[in-house]
Amino acid sequence: MKAIPARDIAGFDDLGLGWLRARGSVKWHRPGRGVLPAWVADMDFPTPPPVVAALREVVDGRDLGYPDWPDGSPLRTAFAKRMAERFGWDASGHRVREQTDLIQCLQLVLHLATSDGDAVAVQTPNYPPFLATLRTMNRRIVPIPMRDTGDGWRMDLAALDTAVKRAGCRALVLVNPHNPTGRVLTRDELDEIAAVARRHDLLVVSDEIHAELAYAPHRHIPFASLSDDAARRTVTLTSATKAFNLAAIRCAVTHYGPDRLLAQRDAQPPDLYGTVSPLGVAATLAAWEHGDAWQRDLLTVLDRNRRRVHEVLRDRLPQVRHHLPEATYLAWLDTRPLGLAEPPVEKVLRDGRVLLDGGSPFSPDADAFLRLNFATSRQVLEEILGRVAGALGGRKG
Ligand SMILES: Cc1ncc(COP(=O)(O)O)c(C=O)c1O
Repeated sequence: MKAIPARDIAGFDDLGLGWLRARGSVKWHRPGRGVLPAWVADMDFPTPPPVVAALREVVDGRDLGYPDWPDGSPLRTAFAKRMAERFGWDASGHRVREQTDLIQCLQLVLHLATSDGDAVAVQTPNYPPFLATLRTMNRRIVPIPMRDTGDGWRMDLAALDTAVKRAGCRALVLVNPHNPTGRVLTRDELDEIAAVARRHDLLVVSDEIHAELAYAPHRHIPFASLSDDAARRTVTLTSATKAFNLAAIRCAVTHYGPDRLLAQRDAQPPDLYGTVSPLGVAATLAAWEHGDAWQRDLLTVLDRNRRRVHEVLRDRLPQVRHHLPEATYLAWLDTRPLGLAEPPVEKVLRDGRVLLDGGSPFSPDADAFLRLNFATSRQVLEEILGRVAGALGGRKG
């Protein structure tokens, strides 16, 4: 395992606790006094400077009139360019539509493509709002387990084929890179999934929001780039919000591979789904066009932090199972071997004063799991890890 760089990284490691605690956004605002937050997928780092500059330019121009986008927002071509540059995927700007966030994208696609009571395959554990959306839409969730193989998390592809066939699934919601395990699926795995999708004529809704947060040598491969067949059956959902820490901008894109679905989408009353704000579009464009240097530093910090989490768990809580995430700033911890009498999220909050995400919203059988967000400064992370280890009865650090 590589050594942790000794120096701090300016802008990422000099976060004052006073500044963090004064924030109005939910991660730091909701926990009580003295509690450190490592829950919800927001990073503690300040907004990237190119994004601040772009937003400032819009505001300084004092023009918040209706945008003039007769052919759709500039996000459409910017998205296609980004995908080509980053992932070698020849996406089409004409197939892009803008929404406020990925949950809205998912709802819209499933409303158009499936009906009440239809079966939809989805990895478990999974991002809780996706599971909640499927439930409120009365779609039948067909869980495809992520399995701990001992040397990492693997999607159970044999279970996928069987479950899709048995339940008669119409669609697969694929989250890759995966939240909460941080797994990045390989080309071989994706090809296998594409073969299942073809065999059972599935629509694939591919959430790739964490794509730019993959750690080398892991590389994200867009599902729609796999083959012509995959391109025709895949709807890709993404945004700049995770990889540039912009959850508040409410701006996301949907790339429609299937012609019929795109036509259905465009036949909807135009105002039903609202439009994105020029501020969200300006922020996204700035991130994609001018944010790469910031993102390189970010990944250096996150890589250091993910290794530090792993190291502390190995040394102080060796019974807790954990695999180094291949992407994301989220660590997924299995505390079952500790045999606790209560959900660990409650114990860590009470005894350690750290707010984590408990596992059960990610999967009903994941009560003994924890999701820890390590996108913070070195100093705050050290404090969080020390408290978590102490609360779970770990060895002295
Ligand atoms: C896998 C995944 N999809 C979608 C989202 C939603 O992001 P947003 O609200 O910015 O659209 C998240 C947020 O954490 C996520 O982890």
